[in-house]
Amino acid sequence: MRPFFSALALSTALAAVPVATALVGGAPAQAQQAAPAAAKPAGQPAAGDIAQQKAPFALPPLPYAPDALEPAIDAETMKIHHDRHHKAYVDALNKAVEDNAGLKGQTLGQLVAKAGTLPPAVRNNAGGHWNHAFFWETMAPAGKGGEPSAALRDAIEAQFKSMDAFKAAFKQAGTGRFGSGWVWLVATPDGKLAIASTANQDNPLMDVAEVKGTPLLGNDVWEHAYYLKYQNRRADYLDGWWQVVDWKKVSDRYDAARKK
Ligand SMILES: [Fe+2]
Repeated sequence: MRPFFSALALSTALAAVPVATALVGGAPAQAQQAAPAAAKPAGQPAAGDIAQQKAPFALPPLPYAPDALEPAIDAETMKIHHDRHHKAYVDALNKAVEDNAGLKGQTLGQLVAKAGTLPPAVRNNAGGHWNHAFFWETMAPAGKGGEPSAALRDAIEAQFKSMDAFKAAFKQAGTGRFGSGWVWLVATPDGKLAIASTANQDNPLMDVAEVKGTPLLGNDVWEHAYYLKYQNRRADYLDGWWQVVDWKKVSDRYDAARKK
């Protein structure tokens, strides 16, 4: 079996790794924030409220064409990642909630927040659904993502010295994640910024996260996110990914976190 397809089965239980923190000013960020959704699936809350989804959970459409992120991320990877992997998390989450009657009626945000108390199938697939919906919205076609707002840039530079140094630290966290997981920029409840990595489909909104807070951006470092184009070169994928980060969206998330 090719590593690309075996990645879903990987199960690494390493703890989240805080890399750095920074004062960002303003009010403390909250640990709960709704992830934006691309569009309104039938019978589901409006875009921007995917955390408010309830069973049956639904796969949001990609907010751009599958080839829109070329050359950083190839169209085939995007199609498989969204149409098969993300869909698999949604389908498995629906089954897991069906199998745990006490969870019916809970929102995705509620499931994620108490993931550590829930069966592994709920934790993993609720995280998988939330993380991927957030991931699609974190990206924009190359050249369309704009630049960080002045406030976000100032906060990043205050902590990491420069945007390049921030990206280097983010890359280090991403390449350092053993097995499968995610790397995040997080607004923490004490009003700081942090880079964190989580294993599997965990995220900073979960009760089990070592670094808790509001995700501002997150990159998927599972092999299924990059293997077709980059094979084992995760570092190259992390470098190329900056071409498609939607800094306008990330800046909006930062502004919302500061106001909480
Ligand atoms: Fe993924």
